[in-house]
Amino acid sequence: MRLKFLPSFVKRKGRITKRQSQGLKNKDDFLILNIDDIKLLNKEYSSCHLEIGFGNAENLCSQAKLNPDILYIGCEVYQSGIGSLLASIKEDKIKNIRIFDKDIRLLIDEKDDKVFDRVIIICPDPWPKDKHHKRRLINYDFLSMISKTMKEGSEIYISTDWENYASHIRELFLRANFFIEAKLNNKKTFSKFERRGKRDGRTIFEFRHLKN
Ligand SMILES: C[S@@+](CC[C@H](N)C(=O)[O-])C[C@H]1O[C@@H](n2cnc3c(N)ncnc32)[C@H](O)[C@@H]1O
Repeated sequence: MRLKFLPSFVKRKGRITKRQSQGLKNKDDFLILNIDDIKLLNKEYSSCHLEIGFGNAENLCSQAKLNPDILYIGCEVYQSGIGSLLASIKEDKIKNIRIFDKDIRLLIDEKDDKVFDRVIIICPDPWPKDKHHKRRLINYDFLSMISKTMKEGSEIYISTDWENYASHIRELFLRANFFIEAKLNNKKTFSKFERRGKRDGRTIFEFRHLKN
């Protein structure tokens, strides 16, 4: 079968811990399948944030606990990450997170309804080799697609610890006139991949733009 998008992630087998496997048993209760599911849920919340590639779900869970009135949609294809998230949801009795467990482009390509108030992408897979750049999630088509699901004035935040990816993202935002640059907030917490990048001596580059 021909894939619609070039995969932007590596399907890792990864060991699933007992905690993650327990969590995964409840996956169906938290899945959203399409934009219409989000529209329905949005009625119960003040706003809706989407985190793409949430990894170990550290940021997603801490944000959801701080802001119970906001609906958080977490998107991840990595089963152990989804298992960790589901275990945390159960342990901490978190009510305001739902999960899309496929390539994000399958969700946002489907419909143009404006449902998101904030989109967060922390350390997308860098694909550092030149021949793999075409696999990077952040490209012009992606920015165009995601912008169509974002409300007017809503925000997109992207960080990366790869200078070459950062230059590419900077150029894309210069072209993408449906976004305008916004002032960065003072970053206080760092994700697992951001911490790893800092530990290895790399800079964290951040981008914050508002939907025009
Ligand atoms: C480098 S990791 C970063 C994880 C986490 N944000 C962090 O900073 O610790 C990138 C994550 O994005 C996920 N990912 C990549 N492409 C994706 C896509 N098209 N849709 C959903 N998730 C994706 C991968 O599975 C991976 O877990």
